[in-house]
Amino acid sequence: MYTLAFETSCDETSAAVLKNDTVLSNVILSQYFHSEFGGVVPEIASREHLKSIVEITEKALKEANIHLKDINIVAATSEPGLIGALLIGLNFAKSLALSLKVPFVPVNHIQGHIYSSFIQKEKFEFPFISLIVSGGHTLLIEVQDFFRHNLLGTTVDDAAGEAFDKVAKMLGLGYPGGPEIDRLAKKGNPDFHKFPLAHIKNKPYDFSFSGIKTSVLYFLREINYIEDNNDKLTANICASFQKAVVDSLFLKAKKAAENLNIKSISVSGGVSANTGLKEKFSSLINKGYRIYLPEPSYSTDNAGMVGITGYFKYMHTNDKAIFNDVTFNSRAMPRIKYEAV
Ligand code: KG4
Ligand code: ZN
Repeated sequence: MYTLAFETSCDETSAAVLKNDTVLSNVILSQYFHSEFGGVVPEIASREHLKSIVEITEKALKEANIHLKDINIVAATSEPGLIGALLIGLNFAKSLALSLKVPFVPVNHIQGHIYSSFIQKEKFEFPFISLIVSGGHTLLIEVQDFFRHNLLGTTVDDAAGEAFDKVAKMLGLGYPGGPEIDRLAKKGNPDFHKFPLAHIKNKPYDFSFSGIKTSVLYFLREINYIEDNNDKLTANICASFQKAVVDSLFLKAKKAAENLNIKSISVSGGVSANTGLKEKFSSLINKGYRIYLPEPSYSTDNAGMVGITGYFKYMHTNDKAIFNDVTFNSRAMPRIKYEAV
């Protein structure tokens, strides 16, 4: 079974080809030029997707050594994301499916991040706790089986990656800020300053990062950072801020695993590339936990994760008829909720 998959929900134009659950190619074009605006500009992102989608598709097919006529299903991110950006990949994918007379499978981007941890990895088992940490999302989910997701908690304000990006901006670092903070944190002292961890009353699995972000802002003002900074100080602030975010994510995910008696945790999304976060979760391995982390190329937005999720969704949906008529299957595009089961 060959799947052709697309991801265009934000600022990556990506196409992938899979043979069953194995990714044969995963071509990603990142729109780095948004950094000059300090964030993604939706209109420009959509136009860039439009410009490059055909070329990216051809490249993905060529790298996989597969012809369009061999494709059995087409998958694309259907939500959530920037609407103009989503529409490029979605309409392109649906049109392709229509012309190839193959089923089209809509994929929820968050679910894509959940299953990204298992690409090119050994077999995984349910249930597991899934922590999704990206620029737009922070979610803690109990995954009981394929597409049986129980939402435990989410952020009440900023996403974890957004906090990294905003703090990087305050420190005069580039966008996206996460990788820069991660790099500098390695040279700094995480105990240099204690930024507060948020606890939300009666919601043990919800996150909040705006408090940490504001306390960094006040601290920078207090020490007159703009006028009086140096590399060591910046590294120390990065290390202390990263520790606060990582501890908050880690403690809540661990608490969920303990309370639900689940011994497997998956951490995915762009922030899962963070060195401190990976180290912290990996420390649970010698306590009997299984920790699933995506390969770096599958941690930020990519079509490989959309492909594996589309493939699993197709295989685990009993009524395949819902995928057959691509002209109508926007009705088969449920707003996927994280229903309690
Ligand atoms: O999953 P992703 O590519 O896009 C969204 O769906 O949002 O995540 C991008 C986010 C950005 O906020 C970026 O700063 C963050 O992931 N990020 C990191 C690291 N690499 C990327 N944050 C912390 N440490 C990293 N190494
Ligand atoms: Zn994402």
